[in-house]
Amino acid sequence: MAPPKRTILVTSALPYANGSIHLGHLVEYIQTDIWVRFQKMRGHDCLYVCADDAHGTPIMVRAQDEGISPEALVERFGAEHRSDFAEFGIAFDNYYTTHSPENRHFANLIYQRLKNAGHITSRVIEQAFDPEKQLFLPDRFIKGECPRCGSPDQYGDSCEVCGATYSPTDLKNPVSVLSGAKPIYKESEHYFFKLQDFEQMLRTWIRGGHLQVEVINKLDEWFAQGLREWDISRDAPYFGFEIPDTKNKYFYVWLDAPIGYMASFKHLCERTGLDFDAYWGEHSAAELYHFIGKDILYFHALFWPAMLTGANFRKPTAIFIHGFLTVNGQKMSKSRGTFITARTYLKHLNPEYLRYYFAAKLNSRVEDLDLNLDDFVARVNSDLIGKLVNIASRCAGFINQRFAGRLAEALPEPALYQRFANARHVIAEHYEAREYGRAIREVMTLADEANQYINDRQPWVLAKQSGKDHDLQAICTQGLNLFRALAIYLKPVLPRTVAGAEAFLDVEPFFWDASATPLLTHTIKPFEHLLTRVEHTAVEALLTDTKEELTTMKNTSSSASPLSADPIAAEINYDEFAKVDLRVARITKAEHVDGADKLLRLTLDLGGEMRTVFAGIKSAYAPEDLEGRLTVMVANLAPRKMRFGVSEGMVLAAGPGGQDLWLLAPDEGAPPGSRVK
Ligand code: 2FM
Ligand code: ZN
Repeated sequence: MAPPKRTILVTSALPYANGSIHLGHLVEYIQTDIWVRFQKMRGHDCLYVCADDAHGTPIMVRAQDEGISPEALVERFGAEHRSDFAEFGIAFDNYYTTHSPENRHFANLIYQRLKNAGHITSRVIEQAFDPEKQLFLPDRFIKGECPRCGSPDQYGDSCEVCGATYSPTDLKNPVSVLSGAKPIYKESEHYFFKLQDFEQMLRTWIRGGHLQVEVINKLDEWFAQGLREWDISRDAPYFGFEIPDTKNKYFYVWLDAPIGYMASFKHLCERTGLDFDAYWGEHSAAELYHFIGKDILYFHALFWPAMLTGANFRKPTAIFIHGFLTVNGQKMSKSRGTFITARTYLKHLNPEYLRYYFAAKLNSRVEDLDLNLDDFVARVNSDLIGKLVNIASRCAGFINQRFAGRLAEALPEPALYQRFANARHVIAEHYEAREYGRAIREVMTLADEANQYINDRQPWVLAKQSGKDHDLQAICTQGLNLFRALAIYLKPVLPRTVAGAEAFLDVEPFFWDASATPLLTHTIKPFEHLLTRVEHTAVEALLTDTKEELTTMKNTSSSASPLSADPIAAEINYDEFAKVDLRVARITKAEHVDGADKLLRLTLDLGGEMRTVFAGIKSAYAPEDLEGRLTVMVANLAPRKMRFGVSEGMVLAAGPGGQDLWLLAPDEGAPPGSRVK
């Protein structure tokens, strides 16, 4: 009997609308997408919603930096995110933004309900304020010396050198990251959510099977420290929703972000007529799952269930927490060139490879996942090309050429096939439990058996013998049916490749139990390559491109946003440094570049040799200020193709960015072209 149909709503964390999707993000979206696709193949009503996380100070500041509205910034990143997700096969049923009327409605509703029930309080607090920018500063926008170890250039909330956590008032010699001004402390009224009102409920809930056991200890630590009121308001100017019945007070981005899950779903309901309350009502029978990273546990396991309870909505069925991505065993890093964006990856490699690799390494625990690039190449080639595709390519040719694409009427080894068909139960259990690595291991063990079967039966030998047509057709039919079963099991992971397999087998889209019945007396289409090998050179090109994009980003970004900063540059030795050919150059021409917010096109005279260089210094210099001046350039930098033309070197500038950016200027007597010592 078919299992009862389930009604399931699934979310992934909402990416911020001021940065590109990178491979670290993709661990989560791929993990979620595989689970959702699996549930859909099983015939359940499973919906997957997400949105861009559009609010907050960093987004407002970045938009200001770029001279555009926050709405325009959010729009631009929204479009980029959607297209990246689509190319990686992440199949949302709805992708929205938190800057939406639906989200405003639910943020207000939840706030009002919490307030009416007495869970909101307000009081005046003191906060760091940038007197130049006229802005209250989040902790991450203040830097100074660590109060414990004295390290310079540390953020207002914690020290990256000694690990101390503190409040920005403890920092020595604090400065605003935005203006360099010394923050002053100003009073303002803030609104707080009384999390402690929900302590008993939360203590019970976290032990109710809604979370992985590993995180419960962490939550216990938080209970031991005592639950505190949560500041849910921010002062204007702020990009977000104004709090009802207040003036110039906005909901903190983290208040309306998870509400964005509801709002995106509401938007889906408006489009499709689904019943919102059946999913979010207090007595909803639907299942609700949030996939998140371990860094946002507090928000999802404490604030969110408390907010939902206080506002009479249902709580999540479970929260699935995953670890972070490392690349070659280390934290993804801009300076090491391993901070790979989805975009750059897509320029060089097939997204299905990454989906497969992540799946092969994912489990249900809160562990970090390592993308080892050599292992990635080896695993994809050995499993997908060497094992999976190989089964089909070894059998399809004979069926197509010798039997006009016709599969035999019966399998020569039904028991072998039956084992493959029965495997669907255990593989389904692994997918359900998010033990994808185990599911993949089962499938690959079967793939080995299928290849062994073909090796033993040697259809290529039979093909040369007369009177063996019947056997040849039967063996290849068996082989293709084994392949088909494996393709069904890999469909949640490899949607595009398996769509290719469905097309080649000329069948309807696979559902999970399709393997219960073999494909017989059926005509297939000619076999076309389902997937090509991954080459080491493509991975190398990806890494080179990643490094170059970082240089371009640094070159074109005047943003002082602390969130895009990566302060640790990789160490270089003297020989590497000595390779840099620094020359005096005269700027003979400086021009605006159409469509570039930050770039100027400079024509540089290196003592007779002319170079074109694009420099991200428009925020600090007008073209007319530059013409005729001397500067220092890296003369032996490989030419780089940029969107606006080829840049043949780099000029040197220093400063925190924005208007505070100074071109290195040698003594006026220095002849252009001369070496800088
Ligand atoms: O940490 C982040 O990237 C947040 N933008 C995640 C928000 S998830 C949800 F709560 F909206
Ligand atoms: Zn310190």
